Amino acid sequence: MPAEKLFADLTNPQRTVFVAELDEMISGVLILHLGGSFDGYIQLLAVFPEFQNRRLGEKIMRFAEDKIFQRSKNVFLCVSDFNFRAQKFYERLGYQKTGALENFLVAGQNEILLRKTRGPLLEFSAQK
Ligand SMILES: CC(C)(COP(=O)(O)OP(=O)(O)OC[C@H]1O[C@@H](n2cnc3c(N)ncnc32)[C@H](O)[C@@H]1OP(=O)(O)O)[C@@H](O)C(=O)NCCC(=O)NCCS
Repeated sequence: MPAEKLFADLTNPQRTVFVAELDEMISGVLILHLGGSFDGYIQLLAVFPEFQNRRLGEKIMRFAEDKIFQRSKNVFLCVSDFNFRAQKFYERLGYQKTGALENFLVAGQNEILLRKTRGPLLEFSAQK
């Protein structure tokens, strides 16, 4: 992702940003987009290379889900069609593919929209 786009997302007041810390070092970033039609969209999850494969990504995802499921029945995110390891990671966490967004970020590539759900939205609103 280009640095300018990342900076715009990190400083966008309509996004909620968290950083993960391990041994007093920033080890990962999570950007959530809350509100709107796709309330509960994980815009970005990244664990920095030196911290990968230690279950930190899984922990950050559980944290994100805790936040999102307090307000919505769905967690959404996109993963690139070529990022097979990340697709496996999300599949293990219970995410299902809902469709491909063609040429969404970059021409010639697809982003796959993933969803984890706890039921229809209107049931959630009715319980409120
Ligand atoms: C994907 C990612 C968030 C997972 O976090 P993590 O702390 O490394 O993951 P965990 O230790 O909880 O789980 C390990 C699994 O993560 C996935 N993974 C690990 N490193 C990865 C990498 N560099 N790229 C993509 N997926 C990766 C694999 O599925 C791995 O399981 P495997 O070893 O059986 O293949 C993290 O590796 C990452 O930031 N990767 C680079 C950026 C990226 O692909 N982000 C997701 C974009 S939607």
